[in-house]
Amino acid sequence: MPRIITLSVDRWAPTNCAPDVVECAAESLEQGNILFFPHLGFQLGAAEQAFLSPETAGKSKNVSWDGVAGRLRGSNVDPALQPLLQGMMQRFAAAGESLLRALFPAYPGALVTSRTSFRAVEVAGRSTSWRKDDTRLHVDSFPSTPVQGKRILRLFSNVNPNGQARSWRFGGSFEAVAERFLPTLTAPPRGSARLLQWCSVTRGYRTAYDHYMLQLHDRMKADGAYQSSPDVTGYDFPPQSTWLVFTDQVPHAVVRGQYLLEQTFYVPVDAMRDPERAPLRTLERLLARPLT
Ligand code: SIN
Ligand code: FE
Repeated sequence: MPRIITLSVDRWAPTNCAPDVVECAAESLEQGNILFFPHLGFQLGAAEQAFLSPETAGKSKNVSWDGVAGRLRGSNVDPALQPLLQGMMQRFAAAGESLLRALFPAYPGALVTSRTSFRAVEVAGRSTSWRKDDTRLHVDSFPSTPVQGKRILRLFSNVNPNGQARSWRFGGSFEAVAERFLPTLTAPPRGSARLLQWCSVTRGYRTAYDHYMLQLHDRMKADGAYQSSPDVTGYDFPPQSTWLVFTDQVPHAVVRGQYLLEQTFYVPVDAMRDPERAPLRTLERLLARPLT
């Protein structure tokens, strides 16, 4: 079962992380634990507080900022306020980058900063399809953005102003989940990956790894017995706290909460302290074949 590893870091650009903290952080994370920063909150500016409303995202679930393309999506705010919203998300992305640079001196050359999201809608009671329902335990996998084996590392910060925690559940180890569901997964049909790419369903080539991870994500969410299995634990992340997880590895779900900032990073398998712990390597071992 994933463990919550608490770190006392209290600023986004910590200057002198002791070597043992750095070593413990990367090691714990790669083992499939959650790094929890109870004293690290993300402060919103006075004008930014206005974004703490479900209206910020309107009909979409989240607002997302793509720093590479320079594109803000899902925003429902007045066009005059968009630069302020964009600025808030950029500031969170930069804060996340500086935290990761300090904590993981071994990753940065390889670390890729991807999307930033702002989740403004209360999770409990939100209506959505089962596949998109993150109140069900799952590992992350992106249907239209193949990762081709790279790790999905996500940083979360609860910015709720009303004292409300973000409640998560955890469901066992990646190995246990992979062993449980692998017999129900099917190989990608020949030629399907090229077709998906030609038809622009995917940005980039959907490798066999991406194919299996998507199926795993779906099978986990669809399986009622697994969702209510006895080895599920939970954790409430309080407002003004931050946590970091390899969400492609740690089975997780969010039960309730509102107002969260999230930053996605990609880490190449070879940049890990121990690449054998990557879901890619675990699936390759279990299936006895290369998947990228
Ligand atoms: C998820 O990544 O599945 C949801 C996390 C959250 O919104 O708290
Ligand atoms: Fe998720």
